[in-house]
Amino acid sequence: MNDLAGRHLVLGMTGGIAAYKTAELARRLQDHGATVQVVMTEGATHFITPVTMQALTGRPVFTDQWDARQPNNMAHIDLSRAADAIVVVPASADFIAKIAHGLCDDLLTTMCVARACPLLVVPAMNLQMWAHPATQRNARQIADDGVVVLGPASGDQACGEIGSGRMLEPDEILDDLIAFFQPKPMRGRRVLITAGPTREPIDPVRAITNHSSGKMGYAIARAAHEAGAEVTLVSGPTALATPRGVVRIDVETARQMYDVVMREVAGADCFIAVAAVADWHVIDASEHKLKKAGVGSDGPILKFAQNPDILAAVAARPTAPYCVGFAAETEDLHANAESKLARKKVQLIVGNHAHEAFGRDDNALTLYDARGRTTLERADKLVLARQLVAAIAERMATAS
Ligand code: PMT
Repeated sequence: MNDLAGRHLVLGMTGGIAAYKTAELARRLQDHGATVQVVMTEGATHFITPVTMQALTGRPVFTDQWDARQPNNMAHIDLSRAADAIVVVPASADFIAKIAHGLCDDLLTTMCVARACPLLVVPAMNLQMWAHPATQRNARQIADDGVVVLGPASGDQACGEIGSGRMLEPDEILDDLIAFFQPKPMRGRRVLITAGPTREPIDPVRAITNHSSGKMGYAIARAAHEAGAEVTLVSGPTALATPRGVVRIDVETARQMYDVVMREVAGADCFIAVAAVADWHVIDASEHKLKKAGVGSDGPILKFAQNPDILAAVAARPTAPYCVGFAAETEDLHANAESKLARKKVQLIVGNHAHEAFGRDDNALTLYDARGRTTLERADKLVLARQLVAAIAERMATAS
């Protein structure tokens, strides 16, 4: 997707072994539509050559404050003026220290101090260097000065030690950058989302579930986080990775989903029920695997009891958040969705056609609320999720 289309980024690099991952990041940024101008410190050139970065970005790399290629000899001004952001990957302890103190002793630091655009830094260093009180103090200082610090992560380090200081992976940096540029209409909001299927056990090896992949709900969780919300995702079993910055709580059954939602809903401003929740569970699921011989040739007879309706229960709370329900229908979408809007007493129902929604990467949505119907045309689920979150944020702002 072209999530960074039209964005011009200055990609700063300082000396650290994680610089080899910056090469991959440069490719990924361009895959998403950004143009990338690389500026390297002298230290960075010991780990990866400017030729590599030039070949990957299709632009000459700048390393020297006295580089005469800029007609006015002011690379430190000119390079950053055209940029939407400077992103420094990897950012060494030395670089962070210099920025914290406003030092300008090479092109990259001079450019950062002279910039008129946002600065994001992605630290990468040995765990002792990251934990050092001076580095911690400097990292806090630059954050206080408005610099966005992404990471570091914890894990195996190139030096063989294990701990905090490891650079985020290129895909994680990419997601954080995409999020950084998204509008923030949900800033300060707490959003609770359910996603995926539920799984109701028959016995320890068999269960009743459905075809929900979780893609729609996870895309909405990501979009809500990008929009600035604090997001908790209560998820049935899926094969999906947790979106960056989202707190995920895994459940299996509808009753577990109900319990977790009821625990987490206090303080939520918005509840979005995307999960395909089983309406019934098997009474007295067997503790042992059912044997063919034990149940006879007609198969087992299962008895069912109704599951709690999570969305209706949240909407009925005295201090209910703004409630959004989904409706996946095989027929009469408009009539069924409108009846769900009234029956579940929620502010908004999002309708989709079941056979065009379950498991797919794209979808088409219709919003039903007091305003009437609004159509969101077929698109990738993340594109739709961003449109839906914007529509919800706008309605919440009008409601409050
Ligand atoms: O996961 P994907 O593969 O991306 O597919 C997405 C989706 C098709 C699952 C999603 O877009 C969707 O439509 N989810 C709702 C499925 C549905 O029709 O649910 P329902 O009609 O059973 O329930 C209506 C609403 O009540 C839903 O918001 C549901 O989450 C909620 N509900 C239902 C039953 C229950 N016990 N508790 C609930 O909260």
